[in-house]
Amino acid sequence: MADIVIIYGTTEGQTRKIARHAADYLTREKHHVSLIDAADAPEDLDDRIAKADGVVLAASVHMARHNAAVARVVDTHKAALDAKPGAFVSVSLGILSEDADERAEAEAYAADFFHTVGWTPRAVLHAAGALRNAEYDWIKRWMMRRIARQRGEPFQAGVDQEYTDWRALEAFVEGFAKSLSV
Ligand SMILES: Cc1cc2nc3c(=O)[nH]c(=O)nc-3n(C[C@H](O)[C@H](O)[C@H](O)COP(=O)(O)O)c2cc1C
Repeated sequence: MADIVIIYGTTEGQTRKIARHAADYLTREKHHVSLIDAADAPEDLDDRIAKADGVVLAASVHMARHNAAVARVVDTHKAALDAKPGAFVSVSLGILSEDADERAEAEAYAADFFHTVGWTPRAVLHAAGALRNAEYDWIKRWMMRRIARQRGEPFQAGVDQEYTDWRALEAFVEGFAKSLSV
């Protein structure tokens, strides 16, 4: 049984859903989990990390960059994070592409993030996120319509689409939790 802190950063909510799913799954598997929104990090986060066996960071990608609140958490709590094994869940849509170059680009966002924040996780999952076409404001709708057009894909304004592979997420966090007890 491991003690795990999960810290997530989200814009439209999919990474929160992913982090909650991971937390619920690990709790069912008898691990102890603290779930923290990077945009509302508690003052005692250093202590919580110090008491944990490992930390999972989850961040979504917007305009080729990972969530800024997660980057700030790494910056502020770097010493505590560096003292613990870490795992990273990168949430994007580029990782779904059939084009190998586009998938490599999505993977490179994570490499850039690690380089920028100066933190190296033990394990990385590139998870597909969601399209929230029904909820985007006009500017996001315009951007996503443009991306869909560039890729020759249809854009359905009122339709949400979730692409996350929940079983792959469970296997990833389970593997990380197991690695903490060996
Ligand atoms: C305005 C906007 C920009 C995005 N930019 C990218 C991008 O550059 N690369 C990518 O792979 N996915 C991009 N996405 C897809 C998001 O990563 C995906 O929708 C994810 O599920 C968002 O997670 P969140 O709801 O936790 O913020 C973008 C989405 C939006 C709405």
